[in-house]
Amino acid sequence: MNAYAPKIFVSKTYKEQTFDLHGLDGISDAQIREHLALYAGYVKQVNVLNEELAAMTGRGQASAKDREFGDLTRHLGFEYNGMILHECYFSNLRPAADPKPSSGSGLAAALSESFGSVEQWQAAFQAIGAMRGVGWVILFQDPATDWLTNHWITLHQEGVPAGFKPLLVMDVWEHAFMRDYQATERGKYIEAFFRNIDWRMIERPVQEPSALRLAS
Ligand SMILES: [Fe+2]
Repeated sequence: MNAYAPKIFVSKTYKEQTFDLHGLDGISDAQIREHLALYAGYVKQVNVLNEELAAMTGRGQASAKDREFGDLTRHLGFEYNGMILHECYFSNLRPAADPKPSSGSGLAAALSESFGSVEQWQAAFQAIGAMRGVGWVILFQDPATDWLTNHWITLHQEGVPAGFKPLLVMDVWEHAFMRDYQATERGKYIEAFFRNIDWRMIERPVQEPSALRLAS
């Protein structure tokens, strides 16, 4: 067999993750169910796009002049980050959560080093969440310096600093809260989000450099 003969690629398939998030404080089970269904759509679309792109590549259709190939490729980042950021978001939450990271934790130290104090970081993070428009607020860690920074991400795939680790991911698209709150009550949702943060999950990547999100 010719070693240079075209191979048919079999695309990888991502699995929808499950999250046990019953009984959160201020974020209803119905809201979480609806949001998880939306997340499942992203996983499905990632798999569909990967399969279609692999098939087109296998048929020799990977061309800059092929409009379908270009459209699917341009859309891949949106679907991937829609999947990944939602997995981070749901992983960040748990029932009966502590109100803040414990004062002696590495996370508290890292937040204080980067923002002056945990309280100052929280005020900045929540202020970004209250900005007009829909998107994400993400606390990232730069693995090269260990510095932490807050970022606003409008579309899933735009504005994400390459190689940085997402530590805390807050979804402020309206679908994340409008079953429980009015469009004008985003502040109440942000307060509720902060009552349900699993600080140990946020701390893991700070303490364990190789820690990643749940594998899809
Ligand atoms: Fe969402």
